[in-house]
Amino acid sequence: MIKFLYKKALKPIFFRKDPEDVHDRMLIVGAFLGRFKLTRTILRLVFRYDNKMLEQEIDGIKYTNPAGLSAGFDKDANLIDTLYHVGFGFMQVGSVTLNPYEGNPKPRLYRLKKSEGLVVYYGLKNIGVDKIIEKVKKLKKNNNFPISFSIAKTNSTESSTVEGGIEDYYQCMEKLVSADLGDFYTINISCPNAYGGEPYTTPDRLDKLLSKLSEIKTDKPRYVKMPLNLPLTDFNDLLKIIIKFKFEGVIIANLNKDRNSNEIKDEIPENIQGGIGGRPTFSLSNELIKQTYKLYGSTLTVIGVGGIFSAEDAYTKIKLGASLVQLITGMIYEGPSLIKEINKGLVRLMKADGFDHITEAIGYSVIKDDE
Ligand SMILES: Cc1cc2nc3c(=O)[nH]c(=O)nc-3n(C[C@H](O)[C@H](O)[C@H](O)COP(=O)(O)O)c2cc1C
Repeated sequence: MIKFLYKKALKPIFFRKDPEDVHDRMLIVGAFLGRFKLTRTILRLVFRYDNKMLEQEIDGIKYTNPAGLSAGFDKDANLIDTLYHVGFGFMQVGSVTLNPYEGNPKPRLYRLKKSEGLVVYYGLKNIGVDKIIEKVKKLKKNNNFPISFSIAKTNSTESSTVEGGIEDYYQCMEKLVSADLGDFYTINISCPNAYGGEPYTTPDRLDKLLSKLSEIKTDKPRYVKMPLNLPLTDFNDLLKIIIKFKFEGVIIANLNKDRNSNEIKDEIPENIQGGIGGRPTFSLSNELIKQTYKLYGSTLTVIGVGGIFSAEDAYTKIKLGASLVQLITGMIYEGPSLIKEINKGLVRLMKADGFDHITEAIGYSVIKDDE
């Protein structure tokens, strides 16, 4: 019913308007709904689905379900009080950077309707770590709802040298750790839209970055958000560095930079810059999840993201080795009831496969292939 309403009534209106405007308005409405007990209760009754089969403890953190909001939707921590009630199992705030950045010139969000994708060119727009800490400190922590801060380097010329960038990441993370905020930290090395590109996606530079960040003492898990467009061997070289520094996991993966991908069915105008989220990330991310689980499933936690539009999509990533999943674009195309649909659908799909709990399904396709 809610999905029907969204797709037949709201989406046609939203999709005629500027995507960034719609996004900003959704954040205002979402933050408002999270402010009051009554609206939170209504949200929860309409959108939330809980089932013991979906509950897990991963790297010491308890999750009520595996479906999380990916980094980039709630850059400035406006929805922390809302998303649990919309049905999510966890969320990422950010990407957050040491200094604020107003974002790249517009347009920085563009719909690829036929491909069910979004071209994203925000360039790490956010209000900066100090303001975010101030905001989050005022909120009451919901113990059932893990939050991860996605940490990136400020999009500026000063932080575009290798050393300058490392210092920027370091100070940002240091502030979050000192404030004791968040349940786990994610180091985003794969924003395709920032000044100076993605310097830490080579093994030597990633080594330098993680070496410095490892000086920050924290008991909380640390993950790395991976790029999508690396060949498997280069991707594997980065995983080895991540394991060397004993990071707990990886998030696979960020936006698709390949505009020639077969999954892109729309013409993209010349003035539209940026990486692509949504369906055009699905199969590449699955390939990387599978290889990571196959090689390092017992060492690294994998969070799968990219092109999830249904319970079946989420289940595919889980069976390839993802312990948790995240999404943004699917929710924009399908509406907020998608989260409940995913969680309910996962239970149905697991039962059909004879599983009693999600942990039995994680990596099942890879294990079965190897037998
Ligand atoms: C509007 C938007 C903004 C994004 N901003 C960030 C970001 O700040 N940091 C990050 O790590 N990923 C960012 N991403 C990438 C997403 O977290 C995700 O990896 C990617 O979109 C694939 O997931 P999806 O197909 O469910 O959208 C952004 C994606 C979108 C759509």
